[in-house]
This record gives sequence, C-alpha cells and structure tokens, in this order.
Amino acid sequence: MPAIPVPTSIDQTAKLLRQGGYVADRALATSLYLALAMKRPLFLEGEAGVGKTEIAKVLSVTLGRDLIRLQCYEGLDVSSAVYEWNYPRQIMAIRLAEASGKTTDAAQTIYSEQYLIKRPLLQALEIHQSGPPVLLIDELDRTDEPFEAFLLEVLSDFQVTIPELGTVKAAEPPIVIITSNRTREIHDALKRRCLYHWVDYPNAERERAILAAKAPDVGDKLGQQVVSFVQMLRGLELFKPPGIAETIDWAQALKTLNARELDPGTVDATLGVVLKYQDDIARVRGEVAAKGITTAKKAAAG
Ligand SMILES: Nc1ncnc2c1ncn2[C@@H]1O[C@H](COP(=O)(O)OP(=O)(O)OP(=O)(O)O)[C@@H](O)[C@H]1O
Ligand SMILES: [Mg+2]
Repeated sequence: MPAIPVPTSIDQTAKLLRQGGYVADRALATSLYLALAMKRPLFLEGEAGVGKTEIAKVLSVTLGRDLIRLQCYEGLDVSSAVYEWNYPRQIMAIRLAEASGKTTDAAQTIYSEQYLIKRPLLQALEIHQSGPPVLLIDELDRTDEPFEAFLLEVLSDFQVTIPELGTVKAAEPPIVIITSNRTREIHDALKRRCLYHWVDYPNAERERAILAAKAPDVGDKLGQQVVSFVQMLRGLELFKPPGIAETIDWAQALKTLNARELDPGTVDATLGVVLKYQDDIARVRGEVAAKGITTAKKAAAG
C-alpha cells in the first residue's frame, strides 16, 4: 500500500488534524504544514495538557504511519534510545559455538543485526511499509544535555553509526515531533534544527470545538459553561492551571452526574477533576467558584 501523502496546504493540514479529532488554530496548522513540507522536525513547547503529544498521535493515525515514541527521562541513554547489543544472546551463541568447536564463526556473527536490539531512534530510521514513520520525542526537557547533543547529531543527518556494524541512514527522514514542557530551556543548536511552535491554551471558541469533538454527548449548554469556567480558572494564576484534558474530564464527570448546567454544590464537589492541587482547590472553592458560575451562565446564555 503506498504511503498516504502529507498535506499540501495549511487548510489541508487543519482538515487532516480535524479528521483525527484534533482542533488546531491557524498558527499551529501553519507550523505543522511547513514542518511536513520542509521535512524538518517540529518542536512543540507549551504548558501541560495543551495537546502537544496528541498531535503526533493524530498525525500517525490520519497519515497511516507507524508511531514511534521516545519518552524522555533523566538519565536516558543511547542503549535505551538507539540500540543495544543483546548480550545474553551473544553469550549463548559463543557458548554454543565453543561446545561445537566453531568459535571463529561466532566471533564473526555476534555483531550482526540478529543480535541488535533496536530502540526508537534506530527504528525510526528504518524503512517502514507505510512510509516514513512519525517519531515522537516526548518531553525532551526531562533528559540531560549530553543526550540532547547526541540527538542533535541524529536529527541533523537522520543517521546513526554503530561501530560494529556501520552507519544506518534513513532513506527518507521520519516525521519528527519533539515536545517540551519547558521545565528547562532546550539548547539553541537543537532548536535551530527544528521549526518551533508554542502551543497555547485554546480560546473559548476552540475549546468548545475540542469539547464537541472529544465529548459529543455533553450538552451544548453544559459544555459552554464548563469552557467558560475553565477559561476563568486559567486567568487566576493557579499553581497548576487546568489543561484541555481536564476540561474534557470535567465535562464528562458532570454529564455522568446528570448535571445540565453548573451549580455551586456540584462544582465544589467536582473541583478535583479540574484542579489537582489542594491549594488551588481551596482557593477556588466557594466564592470564586460561585462568581465563575454566574459569569459562565451569562456567557453561555448570551
Ligand atoms: N486541539 C485539540 N483538539 C482535540 N483534543 C485535544 C486538543 N488539545 C488537547 N486535546 C486533548 O487533551 C488531551 C491532552 O493532550 P496532550 O496529552 O497532547 O497534552 P500535552 O500538551 O502533551 O500535555 P503534557 O505536557 O502534560 O504531556 C489529549 O488526550 C486530547 O484528548
Ligand atoms: Mg504530552
């Protein structure tokens, strides 16, 4: 089956994402379109829960490409990210060879592909039947700088060198999406390889569209009030403002409780679905929530 081609315009890019249930604004669709057209990695930075990781997932589904995910963490190294030799199997091969007196054969073969464990970055450079895969390098800010430097090399040439085997180079570069929560700054050299986009919280209109796509059985009125309330929360400078996932969860929770619109009792009782820190909940519960509900109702009515 030939690969599904990448979109050829900004509009097509937005439409493709929409087919996957992702509601993008024009700026994001533009960045993504350019990254695809120019075959450059897209570096997405933004607060938690604004839809960074989801973009890679939706792209892989809508373009029918394999999704290869490299979840970053402190201490991530080449053996977990690129490749590793399968030592137990190599040793077993040597033992078997010793037993049968063919040690020279074993010496030649233990560094061949069958003893290689391929990790995400190497997998992403291989040929995939469905076309270049989507490589998601998620939460890059959690790794340390040496790994970043190594990654820079991989992303510059889309190749890695395995001393015992040689160089593996991608016939066609994978579609690379890198995300960061900005817990630290990523080095300029790496950013320069990529197109950069800051993923912001959606405005009320887009958030309603996201809610309609992700939780279609939540009524219009409740959905509008939920969005308006969450948008108010994001303006409060809370310790951890709610992301889009929280909006969706909360709307679904309220629907589960058969709420048709917001009311102070239910809101106070369900704040833990939207806010995940006790200090934030304590601040909002009661007066702030009551005011937010009044405003949300007005906004939804008008
Ligand atoms: N624009 C959008 N359209 C549709 N759904 C969205 C959108 N943005 C976010 N979502 C929903 O919000 C959820 C959270 O998004 P995602 O996990 O991509 O956030 P993130 O930015 O990667 O967060 P984190 O930094 O915590 O990893 C997704 O599962 C998705 O359902
Ligand atoms: Mg994420």
